[in-house]
Amino acid sequence: MIMKRNSIGLSTEKSDAISKELNTLLANFQRYYQNLRGIHWNIKGKRFFELHPKFEELYTDANLKVDAIAERILTLGGIPYHTFEDYTQHSKVPVGKNVTKDEDAIRLIVDSLKELLVIERRILNASDEAADEGTNAMMSDFITEQEKTVWMMKAWLAEAI
Ligand SMILES: [Fe+2]
Repeated sequence: MIMKRNSIGLSTEKSDAISKELNTLLANFQRYYQNLRGIHWNIKGKRFFELHPKFEELYTDANLKVDAIAERILTLGGIPYHTFEDYTQHSKVPVGKNVTKDEDAIRLIVDSLKELLVIERRILNASDEAADEGTNAMMSDFITEQEKTVWMMKAWLAEAI
């Protein structure tokens, strides 16, 4: 059987499957992003001046990653989700609402990143199998960075990984 290839030389079928998974990641990333906005705005207490800019740093980074994911989907021939309805429907990242306490905010970040990491590893495997280096390298970078962020958040919480 002859494999149908798209303009970047990847299997069309596999690219479609990967772009679908990337859309799931995109939806979950948008929720993570919104969680970060929420805690940036609502954080209260003695660590405000430390955490308020920290959360801004994280949502700025998440914003860049959201754009990178969406553009990778387009590169693979897909259409990135772009409505709140789609994001809500495909998200497993917990919703952080009225989070004001520092420990709850940090825990929300850890819980959100844990969901993203599971999806990213799934995409890492699928992209490896499809020889889709662009997606694979992206997932690899995200995973390494986010695992380090989780370690730092757990250190802040004084808890074991
Ligand atoms: Fe701000």
